[in-house]
Amino acid sequence: REVGRVVTVRGWITTVRSSGKVAFLVMRDGTGLLQCVVVKSAVSQDVWDRFAQLSLETSVAVTGEVRADARAPGGYELGVTDLEIIGASPLDYPIQPKEHGIDFLLDHRHLWLRSPRQRAIATVRSELEQGIHDFFYEREFLRVDTPILTAAIGERSGLFSTEYFDEGNAYLAQTGQLYGEAAAAAWGKIYTFGPTFRAENSKTRRHLTEFWMIEPEVAWNDSNDNMILQEDLVSYLVQRALQKCSAQLTELERDLTKLEGIKPPFVRLEYTDAVELLHRKGSTTLGCEALGAEDESLIAADYDRPVFVMNYPKEAKAFYMKENPADPRTVLCDDLLAPEGYGEIIGGSQREDDYDKLLARIVEEGLDPAAYAWYLDLRRYGTFVHAGFGIGLERTIAWICGLPHLREAIAFPRMMHRLRP
Ligand code: 4AD
Ligand code: MG
Repeated sequence: REVGRVVTVRGWITTVRSSGKVAFLVMRDGTGLLQCVVVKSAVSQDVWDRFAQLSLETSVAVTGEVRADARAPGGYELGVTDLEIIGASPLDYPIQPKEHGIDFLLDHRHLWLRSPRQRAIATVRSELEQGIHDFFYEREFLRVDTPILTAAIGERSGLFSTEYFDEGNAYLAQTGQLYGEAAAAAWGKIYTFGPTFRAENSKTRRHLTEFWMIEPEVAWNDSNDNMILQEDLVSYLVQRALQKCSAQLTELERDLTKLEGIKPPFVRLEYTDAVELLHRKGSTTLGCEALGAEDESLIAADYDRPVFVMNYPKEAKAFYMKENPADPRTVLCDDLLAPEGYGEIIGGSQREDDYDKLLARIVEEGLDPAAYAWYLDLRRYGTFVHAGFGIGLERTIAWICGLPHLREAIAFPRMMHRLRP
């Protein structure tokens, strides 16, 4: 498009090499790479001398004519006429083109983000976030922002707490769901999109202490409707990534054939059938508990798309899930397990809409009913069938991008042993 025009591009130096008469530099402008060619006889001595001062990550403004060149990255190169150094970069730039250990890279996450791989992941993340908004916007869901400082506990996992003036402890939200339910009673179809916090004592590749979760909540949806919404959303996101981010997924060496077939419907397994399958595969799961990461992988290995495990035993799940009328020992819930060992990406359920049953579960769990008085009000004043789910953004990104660990799915990951940078 710009071929033949003279432009100035600002960015950071990636590589330089020179034959003495002709010099090449490759720069990164934040969107991609640009090769620039400096011919000694065509530029002033000043410009040529400045070339010699360039080092990795020096910031520069390069002026020249745009030329088509099939050999250059991106298919274009710049015939340099001027070169200005904006910010020098000392030779001790920490990240060099060689193998670095993961701890070193995480310590330098603020610089590691400059790599093409990290840009590819960030691009997929941004596209998926937009995709999530588009998906719900098209279906006329309201986006609701729920509080991060909360007084009541939402899930069973660890809590971050802080003193809150004279009000006692405030907890960083583990979920926006309880507020989402109030919003669904008020406005019908809603979703939240926000950071959630869990002080989990686990250093696994699937756990962050701060992660982003999207939680739709829909009045009059039952557990079946809920799963349909989940498979529609997940399929939409995978297809959108394939359409809009094929270059990035290729940069990440993702096997696209593993994603192309991700379309509804997804298989639904009853928890008891999942446990039977696990026992056949040699797992020692007791069959009365949440499934561990290995068990999840064992189940998912049989399928080429995500699979639902539904209706877990009551004691394995949170207090707010609706008792299953067909088997009161279980609740109407589902976990969606991604293929290729990525495990649970969604947890969802129909919510207990019976006041007395909900109160009994709150007491059974040792929670303070007073803290949930407002939540119980949703069952006191015009109770309603409703269901919702939470999809973990980083787990979804890790799966779609094929990342071995959640830590690369977010710009500045927060984990048990990592608070900096
Ligand atoms: O299954 P979870 O705990 O469900 C809830 O929080 C419900 N309140 C959701 C709802 O029904 N509205 O978490 C939902 C998802 C998980 O499936 C997982 O993808 C993600 O959140 N998740 C985590 N992601 C990263 N690090 C962690 N420590 C996570 N814990 C949960
Ligand atoms: Mg869960």
